[in-house]
Amino acid sequence: MTWNSMQYDNNFSFVSAYGRDVVELLSARPGERVLDLGCGTGDLAAAIAADGVVVHGVDGDAAMIRTAVAKYGDTPGGPTFAVADGHAFTVDAPFDAVFSNAALHWMRRPDDVLARVHAALVPGGRFVAEMGASRNVAVLIEGLRDAGAELAPDVRVEPPWYFPSTAEYATRLEHAGFEVRTTAYFARPTAFAPGDTAADWWRMFGPSVLAAFPADVHGPLLARVDELVRDRLLGPDGIWYGDYARLRFAAVRR
Ligand code: BEZ
Repeated sequence: MTWNSMQYDNNFSFVSAYGRDVVELLSARPGERVLDLGCGTGDLAAAIAADGVVVHGVDGDAAMIRTAVAKYGDTPGGPTFAVADGHAFTVDAPFDAVFSNAALHWMRRPDDVLARVHAALVPGGRFVAEMGASRNVAVLIEGLRDAGAELAPDVRVEPPWYFPSTAEYATRLEHAGFEVRTTAYFARPTAFAPGDTAADWWRMFGPSVLAAFPADVHGPLLARVDELVRDRLLGPDGIWYGDYARLRFAAVRR
C-alpha cells in the first residue's frame, strides 16, 4: 500500500511512541550496527542512532523513506535510509542487530522475512521486535465485517495483515535458525489522536481493504463501523482506543 506519511506522523505518531520500549529492549551499544526493518518515517531509527549506534533504516514504502530522509537525512551521525522489501532485502555487511517495530505484520510471508533477517545478522546477532499478534485489532476488523455485511454483503473483507500467536512465531524463529530469548504477548489499548475514530483508523491503515467496496459506500460504511464499535473502543475520556495486541520478542542468530 502507499502511505500518507504526513498524516501518519501527525495523527498516528503513537506507532513510534510505543516503540520506545522496544528500543530499550534492544539496548544497542555505541558503535554497534543496527538495521531498522520497516523504519517508517525514521523516528525510532533516529532515536537509536542518537546513542552513537550506526543505524540503517529500510522500508518497503518510498513515501515513508522520503519523509525519513527529509527529517533525519542531514543529522550528523544519524541514520541512513533505503527502500527495501522485507521479504527480499540483502545487505552489504552483516549487522549486530535487526530491530523492527509495528512492521512485521505487514509482511505476509514470514519465513521469507526471517530468512533475510538471519542472513543480515552476524552469528550471535540479535533480532528484537514488536508486531501485532493474534487477535490484534479484532474489534476494528469485526466492525468493518459487520458493517460490510449490512451495506455491501457481496464484498469480502480481507485484512492484509499477519498476526501470529506467540507459539507460532517462536516456532518460525527456531526453524529459521534463531534461539528465542524472550517473548511477551500483551493487550495494549492504543489511544487514537483526539477526534479520531475507528473510521479514521480504517482510512489510514486499510485503504486496500476499503478499495474492495464501491467508493459511494465508503462514507456510510465507516459511519456504521463507528456506530457498531463505539461502545467497545470509545473510552470514558472521549478518546478512541484501538484494541491492539502485541507480540514482543528478542532472539539471537544461532
Ligand atoms: C498495528 O500496529 O498493530 C497495526 C497497524 C496498522 C494496521 C494493522 C495493525
